[in-house]
Amino acid sequence: MALVLPALGMDSLLCFYCPLQHKGQSCLNITSQCLPDQRCSNSRGRYGSLHILSAQGCVDTELCGSHQITSYRGVKYNVSHTCCCKDQCNVRPKIAKNLSLLMGMMIWNSDLYVGLVAS
Ligand SMILES: *[C@@H]1O[C@H](CO)[C@@H](O)[C@H](O)[C@H]1NC(C)=O
Ligand SMILES: *[C@@H]1O[C@H](CO)[C@@H](O)[C@H](O)[C@H]1NC(C)=O
Ligand SMILES: *[C@@H]1O[C@H](CO)[C@@H](O)[C@H](O)[C@H]1NC(C)=O
Repeated sequence: MALVLPALGMDSLLCFYCPLQHKGQSCLNITSQCLPDQRCSNSRGRYGSLHILSAQGCVDTELCGSHQITSYRGVKYNVSHTCCCKDQCNVRPKIAKNLSLLMGMMIWNSDLYVGLVAS
């Protein structure tokens, strides 16, 4: 069982993918096919209490709702994973299609306002 090919089964999700990077940077509109035991995630890297990094993609189900200390450019961040389990549910602000959804999200994430104004 050394297959690393994307599993094209009913129980594998298609998720938006963006590497771990500064949360203000934009992402390409690309998706990634998860393995069956993975979920779509929105991950946030905090340095102390500051939200600095963001990432999207597939994470192992067991990491959902948990956090891990990850090194990025020599600095250690506390990265927490928020998961969802529908195709492309881990939508990035900049590629959100639904404006009313976007407006609702603005209340708790002011980053989206910048994305909205710039687009
Ligand atoms: C990382 O963040 C989580 C909450 O997202 C917190 O519960 C945990 O204590 C933090 N860990 C460290 C080492 O700061
Ligand atoms: C993202 O890519 C998909 C498939 O190529 C396309 O249908 C969609 O319109 C794109 N969205 C944006 C915001 O570019
Ligand atoms: C956008 O999202 C809102 C709230 O989730 C929903 O009521 C509305 O029907 C959606 N519109 C479209 C075009 O998907």
